[in-house]
Amino acid sequence: MQLTLDRPTLISLAAGFTDHASLPVMETTRLLRSILMEPKMARRSLQYGSTAGDPALRKLTIERLRNLDSSLDSPIYTPENVLITHGSQQLLYLVTECLCDPGDIVLVEDPTYFVYLGILQSHGIASRGIKLQADGLDLKELGRVLDDLKQRGLLPRVKMLYLVSYFQNPSGITTSLEKKRAALELLKKYEKDAGHPIYLLEDAAYRELRFTGAEVPSGLSISSDRVIYAGTYSKPFATGIRVGYGVVPEPLLTVLTRVKGNHDFGTSHLLQQILRAALESGAYEQHLALLQSRYSAKARVLTRAMEMEFPSDAIQWEKPAGGLYVWAKTDVPTGRKSKVFNGALEENVLYVPGEVCYPEDPTRRAPRNTMRLSFGGASKSEMREGIRRLGKVLRAGR
Ligand SMILES: Cc1ncc(COP(=O)(O)O)c(C=O)c1O
Repeated sequence: MQLTLDRPTLISLAAGFTDHASLPVMETTRLLRSILMEPKMARRSLQYGSTAGDPALRKLTIERLRNLDSSLDSPIYTPENVLITHGSQQLLYLVTECLCDPGDIVLVEDPTYFVYLGILQSHGIASRGIKLQADGLDLKELGRVLDDLKQRGLLPRVKMLYLVSYFQNPSGITTSLEKKRAALELLKKYEKDAGHPIYLLEDAAYRELRFTGAEVPSGLSISSDRVIYAGTYSKPFATGIRVGYGVVPEPLLTVLTRVKGNHDFGTSHLLQQILRAALESGAYEQHLALLQSRYSAKARVLTRAMEMEFPSDAIQWEKPAGGLYVWAKTDVPTGRKSKVFNGALEENVLYVPGEVCYPEDPTRRAPRNTMRLSFGGASKSEMREGIRRLGKVLRAGR
């Protein structure tokens, strides 16, 4: 992100920036005006709120989620289980800090969201990677890893499985409901030996950026006491507003709320009110529909350019059904020290080298030939030009 900001001529297919031109400027101006023009609401919004978050936003959030999940009867879908956070990133941090000690182990997808790997590393927490298939986690491997940890007496150190379940960053893969159910059953099976609950931390950051395929319910629709759901209003509305949320079972919720209180007493009240007003007025749904069709068109432009410009026998990828990313596998190294990465930089184009997305795992050698390309921030013409330059580098690098 920093390189993109520092070097304006660079075409970045790397950063997770969202589409710049469609950011909801007019909508946010109207929403802010409606909040500030009403004196009582204005004063309330400019005052501290509660640590857990604005009650109206918590209610709107959980009602929306229950509708998305088509789940009517689970006790988890109550505003009391919702914690509003500073982006979903804060929720991921809080959960990890509260649940894990140095030396613990978190199971992650292989590859996974590399910023989360940073949270683990900074807390001295180890990770074990679970490979992905077209419909999500490789369950056989999950079983094998849990067995191996059991045999080595390490299960008491396993606290959770972190899953980016929708249009995963970086691979674009969505985990099916069946796989979430099977994964939860597997985790439960090993709890006795672990001596404590093993949670599923479901990161749904890209869930709402779906442009094809059916809605997949979240793990909350399966379990009301083992799933921690991390949601966000960043990607579907405005990343700069930085409002996210968690749906968290007790007793973890109380601990997270206390620790969040120590951090910040609660997410910015004014910014929460913008989201509340957006959801209540319908502006949120309207904007989301616009984003979905916009990203669908941008994904088509990116993959069309890849079809035309990349050496077809040497690079593979799947067309995305949502999210912001295309994950490409090549037959040449793509890491930070590779000819391809440095050639791309010389051509003023940037991608995320896939090597940063793999957890440190001594039991396997991480692939070094993958790259994450984003259709979020770059414009259509930048994507076409960026892919043309990258195609040139890829052909030269072989
Ligand atoms: C997988 C994933 N989870 C969480 C986040 C955090 O997003 P935010 O804090 O804006 O909700 C991101 C941001 O890029 C992400 O890619």
